[in-house]
Amino acid sequence: AIAKSYSIASIPADGIGPEVVNAAISVLKALSETLGTFDIEFKHYDWSSETYKKTGKYIPDGGLESLRKHDAILFGAVGAPDVPDHISLWGLRLAICQPFQQYANVRPTKVFRGTQSPLRNCKTGDLDWGGRSHRGQAWETATEVAMFTRHAVERIMRFAFQTAQSRPRKLLTVVTKSNAQRNGMVLWDEVAAEVAEEFPDVTTDKMLVDAMTCRMVLKPESLDTIVATNLQADILSDLAAALAGSIGIAPTSNLDPSRQNPSMFEPIHGSAFDITGKGVANPVATFWTSSEMLAWLGEEDASKKLLDAVERVCEKGIVTADLGGVAKTEDVTNAVIEEIKESF
Ligand code: NAI
Ligand code: MG
Repeated sequence: AIAKSYSIASIPADGIGPEVVNAAISVLKALSETLGTFDIEFKHYDWSSETYKKTGKYIPDGGLESLRKHDAILFGAVGAPDVPDHISLWGLRLAICQPFQQYANVRPTKVFRGTQSPLRNCKTGDLDWGGRSHRGQAWETATEVAMFTRHAVERIMRFAFQTAQSRPRKLLTVVTKSNAQRNGMVLWDEVAAEVAEEFPDVTTDKMLVDAMTCRMVLKPESLDTIVATNLQADILSDLAAALAGSIGIAPTSNLDPSRQNPSMFEPIHGSAFDITGKGVANPVATFWTSSEMLAWLGEEDASKKLLDAVERVCEKGIVTADLGGVAKTEDVTNAVIEEIKESF
């Protein structure tokens, strides 16, 4: 059989981004060599806050056109201590997601074999955060306007229903905040009800985002596929990552379901200045997102094998400090490569 060949753009960018992306590239190469069912090539794009500081641009002229030629994009993290976060985020990551119409941001969560949820030992009184509001008012005012179009809500909702339909439980939870936000969120609820008619085999339920945080912690087993606005899902997915054990595990895919543009795969975490260069960044999130990338490209078997190898390594206790282990990024990477070579 002729092996399929994939061309992947790698954009490691800032902080621990290069550490985890390099780890994922060696794992993907080992997987391709061992399985022999697909070839994978990486073209490295040196777009980062360093290049921004030198040239005033994250993406050079013509950059998006070269990026468009690849089958997928593997992204690290963008953000530097001396560049404001809104500049870095809009300059690089959103500057790719938006023109490439990667409108579906998908974030799987699960407790990996061999890892533990941080709440397992939580006792009465351990969780008591309290709270105050309207502290020290100085008549300052700020607004954020969120705009929802029927077109955009419909397409993300349809994608959510399709995702739920493809999973065994066919269960979709639609999260909004339509009690307080009575325009955009109500449109969101209405569109959800309309699209639901197209998917009679999918069970849906509705949650307000605040109640959803409780349900995620107290009854995670009652959830399967969740759809929410970008901002609400951004927050919920960090919670989901923490519940699953660490933000160092959680992956995310920025998909263009029309497949007109390459989709982008990245860990959920950022550039983690506090651990950059120490060799302790957990590469599992980037391995998992690499597995999601393979599935998106049609390499289902390789995708499952990669995730299985990663889980086996976690199970053996070869995990980084964020998961309570002593392994370095390199140890986890080498263990996954060995697992791939020995088992497949
Ligand atoms: P962060 O995710 O970089 O770090 C939060 C905490 O999690 C830190 O204590 C860090 O050490 C830990 N952590 C993150 N990834 C880890 C890993 N793989 N292994 C072990 N521990 C890990 O979030 P933070 O500190 O809010 O942001 C730092 C920078 O990253 C900012 O400039 C921010 O804008 C940027 N950022 C970029 C993202 C992206 O490129 N998509 C996403 C989130 C943040
Ligand atoms: Mg986030």
